Amino acid sequence: MRAIQCDAYGEPEGLVPRDLPAPTAGPGEALVAVEAVGLGFVDALYVRGAYQVKRPLPFVPGSEMAGRVIAVGTGVDAALVGKRVVALSPLGALAERVALPASACTVVPDAIDPAIAAGMLVDYCTALYGLDTCGHLKRGETLMVLGASGGVGDAALDVAKAMGARTIAVASSAEKLLACKHRAPALSIDYNRPDWRKTLEAANAGHAIDAVWDPVGGPYSETAFRCLSPGGRHLVVGFAAGEIPRLPLNLALLKRASLVGVDWGGHVRADPALNANAPILARLLAWVAEGRIAPRVHVAGGLDATASALRALLDRKSVGKPVIRVGG
Ligand SMILES: NC(=O)c1ccc[n+]([C@@H]2O[C@H](COP(=O)([O-])OP(=O)(O)OC[C@H]3O[C@@H](n4cnc5c(N)ncnc54)[C@H](OP(=O)(O)O)[C@@H]3O)[C@@H](O)[C@H]2O)c1
Repeated sequence: MRAIQCDAYGEPEGLVPRDLPAPTAGPGEALVAVEAVGLGFVDALYVRGAYQVKRPLPFVPGSEMAGRVIAVGTGVDAALVGKRVVALSPLGALAERVALPASACTVVPDAIDPAIAAGMLVDYCTALYGLDTCGHLKRGETLMVLGASGGVGDAALDVAKAMGARTIAVASSAEKLLACKHRAPALSIDYNRPDWRKTLEAANAGHAIDAVWDPVGGPYSETAFRCLSPGGRHLVVGFAAGEIPRLPLNLALLKRASLVGVDWGGHVRADPALNANAPILARLLAWVAEGRIAPRVHVAGGLDATASALRALLDRKSVGKPVIRVGG
């Protein structure tokens, strides 16, 4: 089977297509013909060996996967065969076949394009878990989203809107803001302009900022925290800017505001027996069916497009959620 392999930590251009032996379904496993794989900033970090967890070499990258079950191992209900599933694969998904625990698979309706299913998995589950469980975002509150045109930023805007919140999009260029304008019709701000806080406060006058969604870090986080209204929540999601910022703690006191960590992967791993993603994902899939959310992905190409899609993420050029189509 065709797969993309990482032989040495480094830049995405070092990834090589390989013919690898196809896996089989072991006990408790499902063998899936992969149809689509969502890519995130974290995949580029795994390839660089720069993520907090290193994958032993060589490895096949990719974890957000949708595909059709073609066989199951002993102990798995045979009715799963033929179903389209979505899963966070513990082993590399950038391959034509992957064998993974059947308990990690969630069946998705055939009406949902596999590119959407794979592309929404991590970012939308993170958004709903982060905004609801961690951030207690309420109807009518205002959420400001940093890196708003990126994968997890765009998902947060969409989910917040579905929760009845008002949204503000913040990104680094007019083009990026245009790409997410429909998710945040009220207000969008370019945080690469000097004095973006003043611009924001003038344009947002009369409204609170109840929560900040921060997958970016770097120099933007402290300014964003300072924009929070009293009682606000700053949701720490990631550090795409590369620098982990330090916050003067007096700001939390002065604002009576909270700094809240959002780690959806950690939440799932903490309770794998309950397959903690399933209830959140089921809620999100129902919202897709009702038209309450509209996940947006862009298909970067087939397996050979992996390196260029990861490069765009690293170079801050990616807009929306890149997805790789695998197989027919
Ligand atoms: N906590 C969780 O459970 C969870 C789940 C998913 C993702 N994450 C994390 O969230 C972060 C974003 O992931 P993503 O997949 O959404 O990435 P993405 O699509 O690349 O979006 C990240 C955004 O960060 C901004 N950015 C600022 N400086 C950047 C730089 N030097 N390089 C690249 N981007 C930069 C970019 O927007 P502007 O150009 O507009 O600034 C970009 O759109 C990552 O750190 C990832 O690990 C965490």
